[in-house]
Amino acid sequence: MSSNDTALMEKIVSLCKRRGFVFPASEIYGGISNTYDYGPLGVELLRRVKNAWWNAMVLERSDIVGLDSAIIQNPKTWETSGHVSGFSDPMVDCKKCKARFRADKLDDSRCPERSSKKPTECGGELTEPRAFNLMFKTNIGAAESSSSVAYLRPETAQGIFLNFQNVLNSTRIKPPFGIAQIGKSFRNEITPGNFVFRTREFEQAEMEFFVPPAENDRWYEHWKTERFNWYVGLGIDPAKLRQREHDKDELAHYSTGTNDIEYLYPFGWGELEGVACRTDFDLKRHSEASGVDLRFFDPETKERYFPYVIEPAAGVNRAALTLLIDAFEEQDVEGEVRTVLHFHPQVAPITVGVFPLVKKEGMPEKAAEIERVLRRAHFSTFYDEKAAIGRRYRRQDEIGTPFCVTIDGDTMSQDIVTVRHRDSMKQDKVAVKELEAFLRDAIGSWKRA
Ligand code: GAP
Repeated sequence: MSSNDTALMEKIVSLCKRRGFVFPASEIYGGISNTYDYGPLGVELLRRVKNAWWNAMVLERSDIVGLDSAIIQNPKTWETSGHVSGFSDPMVDCKKCKARFRADKLDDSRCPERSSKKPTECGGELTEPRAFNLMFKTNIGAAESSSSVAYLRPETAQGIFLNFQNVLNSTRIKPPFGIAQIGKSFRNEITPGNFVFRTREFEQAEMEFFVPPAENDRWYEHWKTERFNWYVGLGIDPAKLRQREHDKDELAHYSTGTNDIEYLYPFGWGELEGVACRTDFDLKRHSEASGVDLRFFDPETKERYFPYVIEPAAGVNRAALTLLIDAFEEQDVEGEVRTVLHFHPQVAPITVGVFPLVKKEGMPEKAAEIERVLRRAHFSTFYDEKAAIGRRYRRQDEIGTPFCVTIDGDTMSQDIVTVRHRDSMKQDKVAVKELEAFLRDAIGSWKRA
């Protein structure tokens, strides 16, 4: 990473803490490595990412239904899925300092004793690579024994396969159709890092789309395009997005083809989402292992078959991080630095700031009333009467609030407010009775500058 890119990441991490997006977890006890909590603005950002995903993947489609499956499933799930034997990273140990690194990510790793050095640059010698399983183990019940072992799920997908027949029977939906789920997954990542990009606990938004095998290629193309466009629709710069087909030797054990949607982070191109062809691997394996027939029976053709699966698998935290990085800008405005997050209004944690110009002449009361009306109309609002108006605008710019409404003399005499736009800093005069419609229109027609 260049020094500019390192500085950019540091600025984003600092803004996230200062303004309440992301905090280091367990901070009062010295933290816990690469684990984060989401503050008042961060939780709103995550919620908006999840809502946008759920809207696009479930509510706006008639061929996808939702699910919320358990995090801890019968451990046979993970034996059958191949995760117990195959979900591992190649690890090496430094014989000098005993630190452990991912053999395939040595360039991203640093010696814990000399942080400017990569492994071996400090003179340490590395062991041969060994497979290290990424699943977190736990025990069910009071006694710890080999029969009480269970795993925290490393992906949400398996809960969907386990419920395939339940969903078919309860909804009478038929292929091509999908089951979508958002939830936490856990991986004992050995080289986490780059802030919330790779953590041990994270949220996934996954959808398994079950298709007749002959339709596999068509739906693979469909989902690659759909998912790429979803990120563009959230306002992310398309010039910093790309699609990359996996080489054969990179494919997960269940996949015959995977296309990563990648973003150009300050630390280089990185995976934002994977769209994978999982074929009938999972349904077939679970059928064989459980003895329950998970084939689909088509009453029209009288055919019984295992559908193939196309899986778009997104990371909610990674999408939120991408939105933050992509939205961040420092502008020189009349010799001063203006920090702005150019969030799409759909994902901005606060949509409208409401301010009385001064703390007198009835303006605070009028502003509070307007804020209440907007809040009841389900705008996410923030009321602020402290400091000079320019400073209040800047505070909202820094957290990505797209619109600020100022109650001034015109409001008191003519019921007209000033709407200030975050990106252009332009101002419009709007009648109070038209404010809600004006804001809805501005949200709907927002375009990335
Ligand atoms: N079911 C398929 C699957 O889990 P994956 O590529 O391993 O595929 C999907 O994960 C997405 O989950 C990734 O593209 C990424 O956005 C997110 N993700 C995976 N591991 C993560 C981690 N350790 N921290 C944050 N997000 C992660």
